[in-house]
Amino acid sequence: MSTPSPIGAPQHVLDLLHNLHQKSLDQEATISKKGKVFSADVIGDLEDQRPKSDPKDEFDRLMLDKFIALDEDKCQFTYQLINAMGATNIVEAGTSFGVSTIYLALAVAKTKAATGKPGTVIATEKEKEKADVAQQYWAQCGPTVQQEIDLRVGDLLETLKDGLPRVDLLLLDIWSALALPTLKTVLPSLRPGAVVLTDNTISGAKGYADLLAFLRAPENGFQNMTLPFTNGFEMSVYRP
Ligand SMILES: C[S@@+](CC[C@H](N)C(=O)[O-])C[C@H]1O[C@@H](n2cnc3c(N)ncnc32)[C@H](O)[C@@H]1O
Repeated sequence: MSTPSPIGAPQHVLDLLHNLHQKSLDQEATISKKGKVFSADVIGDLEDQRPKSDPKDEFDRLMLDKFIALDEDKCQFTYQLINAMGATNIVEAGTSFGVSTIYLALAVAKTKAATGKPGTVIATEKEKEKADVAQQYWAQCGPTVQQEIDLRVGDLLETLKDGLPRVDLLLLDIWSALALPTLKTVLPSLRPGAVVLTDNTISGAKGYADLLAFLRAPENGFQNMTLPFTNGFEMSVYRP
């Protein structure tokens, strides 16, 4: 990346982030000819290759040791946006090994210090093994990152049902079929002016058809724009 990074963090955190992004990209290149994993595409390929097994189970097994981290520039944009909004309550749908979560936590630490408001990053991961590894990376970052994160392990459609604050920002970095059910779970807690960010809405548009139709239906109260990051990054502002 040629432009300077906006991220304010100690050098060991920046180095860790750089290494984790690289590992994630290397892994994705081995799984997908496109160089990026789109859940609907990979599940479709598995359906073709192994018609006798359940493609969703196969997909979950394949993803158990994979980062599929949000791209570095999208993480940096999200960090900037949180700072611009003064956002302190964030929900991350899909945490994996916790790369994007580190950016969210760094940003929330700053906005809390600047505004004096309380807040937290609610991180969600279905796979306990992945959640354990994420916690190890957060420990390497140190308490500034660790103390901002409320990690909820299990199916997010259950773990996000209760105990949500007024949410400023929801990051949908989850398998596409889960995106709309996740949004509907968090929707009652979104504050007016909250932002929903959804990854890969250009390349993954087919998998996100139901989510995009919901976001773009005027009666649901979202103002939408597809940001021109690689594969698309949807920014939806909630104005009910
Ligand atoms: C694209 S990855 C998230 C990457 C992460 N945001 C990052 O940048 O490092 C999506 C993650 O969502 C998790 N996931 C899938 N279904 C889930 C569910 N029902 N509840 C919670 N997590 C789930 C997967 O195990 C996977 O690790």
